[in-house]
Amino acid sequence: MADQSTIVVATNNPGKLKEFALLLPNYKIISQSSLGITPEEELGETFFENSLQKARVANATSGKLSLGDDSGLIVPALNNLPGLRSARYAHECATDEENRLFLKQELEKLELNHAKAYFVCVLVLVKTSADPFPLIATGLLEGSVKTTMTGTNGFGYDPMFYPKGSDLSLGEMGADEKALLSHRGKAIQILKRKIEGFASE
Ligand code: IMP
Repeated sequence: MADQSTIVVATNNPGKLKEFALLLPNYKIISQSSLGITPEEELGETFFENSLQKARVANATSGKLSLGDDSGLIVPALNNLPGLRSARYAHECATDEENRLFLKQELEKLELNHAKAYFVCVLVLVKTSADPFPLIATGLLEGSVKTTMTGTNGFGYDPMFYPKGSDLSLGEMGADEKALLSHRGKAIQILKRKIEGFASE
């Protein structure tokens, strides 16, 4: 691999970027927006396809190791929504707050004030845009969503997501605490081991 110390993260989500910087302290993390790379429309039908597409687009411009992250919240009681549409649940250009309120309304329509849910994260790391052997890692965080929102930390659905066994929402947890148990934290630990294995081969 060429420059193994820099990773371009294919996201414009500042919340995700902070988490990558925290979880990958041995790498120089660059956001794709700082290189003028704009995200393409997500066309995949799976988190994996979208993540691979994001990584390839970032690599085509940067020529550097590029990491795609596609993640989302799945609520089985809502037919697995918001799922792939997590970032655009309320509407195409929705803010995190609009998405949270929309989710709250969808739960209330079913007269639910909480429901089982889980977060998924699929990471794909490519060395070239035509990399035939991308490194792939997935992470899952089980818990529930509640219509009451607590805490202002994190991003997205964090204030309404309670990890299994926790009285605190992700929005009430510190960044380090969330990183230890989150879907993204778990996927990154797996990816790190793969990168290290690859580098030593
Ligand atoms: P993506 O940028 O297409 O992967 O969209 C991911 C969306 O899923 C985000 O905009 C959030 O709404 C949600 N999401 C993913 N990971 C998290 C998380 O760690 N906390 C809260 N919301 C998340």
